[in-house]
Amino acid sequence: MRAIEVRNLRKLYPKKIPLPFRKVEWFEALKGISFEVKRGELFGLLGPNGAGKTTTIKILTTLLEPTSGEAKVLGFDVVKEAREVRRRINLVAEGERTLYWRLTAYENLRYFASIYYVPRSEAEKRIRELLKMVGLWDRRNDLVMNYSRGMKQRLAIAKALINDPEVLFLDEPTLGLDVQSAVFVRDLVKRLVKEEGKTVLLTTHYMHEAEQLCDRIAIIDQGKIIALDTPEGLKKLVKKDTIVEVKVKNYTGNNPFGLVKVEENNGTIVLRGSLGEEEIPRLVEFLVRNNAKVLSVEVKEPTLEDVFIKLTGRGLRD
Ligand SMILES: Nc1ncnc2c1ncn2[C@@H]1O[C@H](COP(=O)(O)OP(=O)(O)OP(=O)(O)O)[C@@H](O)[C@H]1O
Ligand SMILES: [Mg+2]
Repeated sequence: MRAIEVRNLRKLYPKKIPLPFRKVEWFEALKGISFEVKRGELFGLLGPNGAGKTTTIKILTTLLEPTSGEAKVLGFDVVKEAREVRRRINLVAEGERTLYWRLTAYENLRYFASIYYVPRSEAEKRIRELLKMVGLWDRRNDLVMNYSRGMKQRLAIAKALINDPEVLFLDEPTLGLDVQSAVFVRDLVKRLVKEEGKTVLLTTHYMHEAEQLCDRIAIIDQGKIIALDTPEGLKKLVKKDTIVEVKVKNYTGNNPFGLVKVEENNGTIVLRGSLGEEEIPRLVEFLVRNNAKVLSVEVKEPTLEDVFIKLTGRGLRD
């Protein structure tokens, strides 16, 4: 049995709040996606803003019903057997605000342990283990409101582990964290899979995070899965290409030679894409003729962003 099975999942949202007599228009946030996650796998949904990542996670965690299609978690249907699913999973939502800031970390976990009916005899031990695992044991008696953002996120993960879920869902687990906290969280996620045998499905729009962490990645864009493979497998799609990155100032045109804008900083634009080596001088000439100031041209190692650019003609960070 697979940890997660998704078949042809669709989700329509009403574009406006439906009022009596107002015709509802629908927006198709998920256009029929299918994928499977194995037990003990660290699986990533990678995609830009609005791709449908959170929608997918909400359906899999029974917070939202799909419009059509089917999804199973540990063999249980997320709609018809939602209770069975909920007992075996947990979720760290995007920008999680479900911790009680006026309680200490320890009190928070005590509270959530009781919500999940963790027996008192076990709760003490589990809370201690979890707080140690996320590096907050020494700070257990501090109020959560005095925690840094990274500490809050670590506690949110500990909270999500309180019911010892078999499958853990993480929506953008490192969003808005400082570098050090993000490294800690990624490490923690890895340990959960390698050492605790959990199955993890995470979403991210950071390609490096997906590449570093995930056993397999589904690249999702505009409600569709456009590629699904191991990081290495995905990068094979651009292996034979020469990836060029150009930094320019004062360039106002768009996509020269099929390169796309991947960054913009104080008027400096970074363009990136695959290009035949013999085309590089012609590209530079073209940019200069269009009054752009070329700051650098570099050949780069392909990343998942290049896969995304190749498949969509757009950058992942747009
Ligand atoms: N409750 C809602 N009502 C209407 N439209 C919605 C609703 N929730 C999401 N959408 C739309 O569905 C699409 C997918 O949204 P979703 O939140 O799943 O994207 P995402 O991949 O998680 O993006 P992000 O990276 O910004 O978190 C977006 O276009 C969004 O505007
Ligand atoms: Mg989201």
